[in-house]
Amino acid sequence: MPQANINFGRLPERYLFLDIAKRVAAYSETHPHADIIRMGIGDVTRPLAPAVIKAMHQAVDDCAAPETFHGYGPERGYLWLREAIVKGDYAPLGVQMNPDDIFINDGAKSDTGNIGDILTPGSLIGITDPVYPVYVDTNLMRGNEIKYITCNAANGFTGDIPKEKFDVVYLCYPNNPTGAVITRCKLKQWVDWALQNGALIMYDSAYEAFIRDPKIPHSIYEIEGARNCAIEFRSFSKTAGFTGVRCGYTVIPQELMISDGKGGKANLNAMWERRQSCKFNGASYISQKGALAVYSEEGQAQTKATIDYYLETARIIRKSMEDCGLNPQGGENAPYIWAQTPDGMDSWKFFDELLNKAQVVVTPGSGFGPAGEGYFRITSFADRQRTIEAMERIKNMIKYA
Ligand code: MLT
Repeated sequence: MPQANINFGRLPERYLFLDIAKRVAAYSETHPHADIIRMGIGDVTRPLAPAVIKAMHQAVDDCAAPETFHGYGPERGYLWLREAIVKGDYAPLGVQMNPDDIFINDGAKSDTGNIGDILTPGSLIGITDPVYPVYVDTNLMRGNEIKYITCNAANGFTGDIPKEKFDVVYLCYPNNPTGAVITRCKLKQWVDWALQNGALIMYDSAYEAFIRDPKIPHSIYEIEGARNCAIEFRSFSKTAGFTGVRCGYTVIPQELMISDGKGGKANLNAMWERRQSCKFNGASYISQKGALAVYSEEGQAQTKATIDYYLETARIIRKSMEDCGLNPQGGENAPYIWAQTPDGMDSWKFFDELLNKAQVVVTPGSGFGPAGEGYFRITSFADRQRTIEAMERIKNMIKYA
């Protein structure tokens, strides 16, 4: 009889956002008239930019005629998109990037989850805590060992540089869930540590488009030496509203090597090409054309306006949480606001109270790891008026508790 992957026994029963969705659905069922405001999962709510819509319509039309029809795309993604990324995302940072360092995908979640295919099972993984649960769950599924690196107010939610060895460390800045950003100096410490210890950094910068402070790095490759120790994940989901369209990319510099376990070196770019060409058939031509339009002049202006909208919503949330005395973090160069529960209440208890008494959904901090206990996360990917309404409800609930 086949045996199930026993590592699934190490996972929480449900993926965090599915767990929340089920709890909210159960509440809705028993309270069918409740006017629930959802500020839990970070799913975008603003429509796609007109430039993107136009490009995708054109791409559909291309597929309607034999001369312009597109079937399977190239394994790494269309060259025109990879070139646009080099020119649009990296050149302005002064970062030299080659289109062949880049792999187009169907969003950062898939690749941050799948990248472990290129590591030997049983690897020791350092994971900042609190954290986007995909890094934890996928490493547990593979039989890897994980160890948390605590991020808290004392270290600016950026984690102390470890004294012990890790094979891999996951970093995410601007951070999901805390909304913290990392300074160039601290990021350099991480890169230097990885180079000295032969560790690999998985750097998730899916939220870099929210950075407004010019001193904050957008990419780990702004730091010297990072091409020899880091993989970077980017996404059009939060930059350009692609959570439903699906397109992102992963950067694996061609010179990036790790041990092959036999005394030699393994080239990660070549391994990832091998993995992707076997297990993945690419993001669709239509979504890649949509992503290309993000780099047009109109696309840049339109997507920036959408991010400005979310950042203003984030400012309103942060101010409201300050008014409630909940010490908010983030929301200034990031879409997420991280706040303390009132009187140190348990995160899930606060989630339940908020749902039951105010009909507002947030994400409980402990869902992101042990260091998240006593916190909750609010997303600014929400409608402005509904956000204002939600903030009033939270304030009232806390005032009259
Ligand atoms: C979140 O709410 O943390 C994000 O929506 C998750 C994701 O991007 O997959």
